[in-house]
Amino acid sequence: MYKNIRAAVVGSINMDIVLNMEKVPEVGENVLGTTYGYACGGKGANQAIGLARLGAKTKMIGKVADDTNGKRLIENLEKNGIDYSCVSTEGTQTGLAAIIIDGDGRNRITVYEGANAEIDPKEAADCIDDETDLLLVQFETKEEVVVKCVNRAIEKGITTVIDCGPAKNFALEKMQGATIISPNESETKALTGISPDAESTVLEASKKLMQRSKAQFVVLKLGERGCSVWDGESLKIMPTYKTKVVDTTAAGDSFTAALALEFKRSGDIYAACDMGNKVGAIAVSRMGADASMPTIEDIVNFNI
Ligand code: RIB
Repeated sequence: MYKNIRAAVVGSINMDIVLNMEKVPEVGENVLGTTYGYACGGKGANQAIGLARLGAKTKMIGKVADDTNGKRLIENLEKNGIDYSCVSTEGTQTGLAAIIIDGDGRNRITVYEGANAEIDPKEAADCIDDETDLLLVQFETKEEVVVKCVNRAIEKGITTVIDCGPAKNFALEKMQGATIISPNESETKALTGISPDAESTVLEASKKLMQRSKAQFVVLKLGERGCSVWDGESLKIMPTYKTKVVDTTAAGDSFTAALALEFKRSGDIYAACDMGNKVGAIAVSRMGADASMPTIEDIVNFNI
């Protein structure tokens, strides 16, 4: 379905240390965890794995260090069939995320950027070549990297999808005219000052995001409410699929990967959002970041 799409992702690659607990601690409180483990993560790498699992020919552009975590993360990209020739291993320390997950599957994440903050903007942009049909970026690398890569892709006429995680007020004005911009609720608040908690505020925030970025479509990820699409003329809220929530880590990453691929394939933004909702629902029903990302077969077998 997506095997003819040549996708590239510029972004972070992290080792995630994940601790599960019934209730997260208050300040000064100690609580007991139930399980813990290490998992391959990073918003960029998660999105690359999301694309590859759905069948796209995928290239990762980023940086790790030549350390144990860096080696394990590269092996994971290789195992998932991702071209990692544009992943430098010359960083000082590989990125790390400490993730705590409560009994309701909700996470809290702290990221140490490490090598992700050392990506060279020109080197990354030069990896976006004429063989690239689709580019995905997030905000977990330096602003100069994101801006340079998005502008390079726009100049080349490449379909460009901006995932706005993690939440920060990024200078959207420096990269005008991407295809899709897609923040979640907290990222929308950070970028616009508006909480998208009602249809009127979803519309207000979407208009502001389009005005700032001049993107063709604004797609807000609204958690259990699904997502919204604003195309400059009409707003549509697309409810998600209900599943048992086990772990929400990387649900947004899997949504963005599926949204981008289906839009590139069909040019239909509503079909793209529906695919994003489906893939996101499968991802939250499973434990882990990239480990929760579905394949096309999983989607076909998905019973709502
Ligand atoms: O979006 C989830 C990701 O955010 C985790 O894998 C973690 O590495 C952080 O980057």
